[in-house]
Amino acid sequence: MTKIDRGVRYPVSFRLNGESVHGYAENRLLLSDFLRHEVGATGTHVGCEHGICGACTVLVNGLPVRSCLMLAVQVEDCDVQTIEGLAFADGSFNELQSAFNQRFAAQCGYCTPGILMTLQHLKNQNRDFSEEEIRDALGGHICRCTGYREIIDAAMDVMGADSRQTDD
Ligand code: FES
Ligand code: FES
Repeated sequence: MTKIDRGVRYPVSFRLNGESVHGYAENRLLLSDFLRHEVGATGTHVGCEHGICGACTVLVNGLPVRSCLMLAVQVEDCDVQTIEGLAFADGSFNELQSAFNQRFAAQCGYCTPGILMTLQHLKNQNRDFSEEEIRDALGGHICRCTGYREIIDAAMDVMGADSRQTDD
């Protein structure tokens, strides 16, 4: 008979916002819980814990994932980026954060870290996006404060198809 040993913790090592993280996690521990409770990276928010609301979105190897649907042991040797890693090294807002600030795109702010991480994934592609593409990318995020218009406007300011200034 196979013995199921609950409570065993396994070593897990990955890079979080460029810094090495080494810890231990039960194999069932969610990445979102590991980040928040073991690492103290509480900027990643947890809403539904069912992959619906998008609040827990982080980047794993550059791709947005629901950290409530991923196990901590699955990010072994991965690059994980959270909202804590978005600002510049001197602590000032990056372009997306500044645009959110200027557009008043955060109300209670609960959804904001996840939305910013999804938008950062778009921005990392270094091209312009149509409003439809931005709306499509944010389709998996729920904002209970219903501030979608300002969120879209902020994203369009940074990487909207008509946001780039020309020299002439
Ligand atoms: S908490 Fe992960 S999608 Fe809602
Ligand atoms: S700003 Fe409150 S949930 Fe989005």
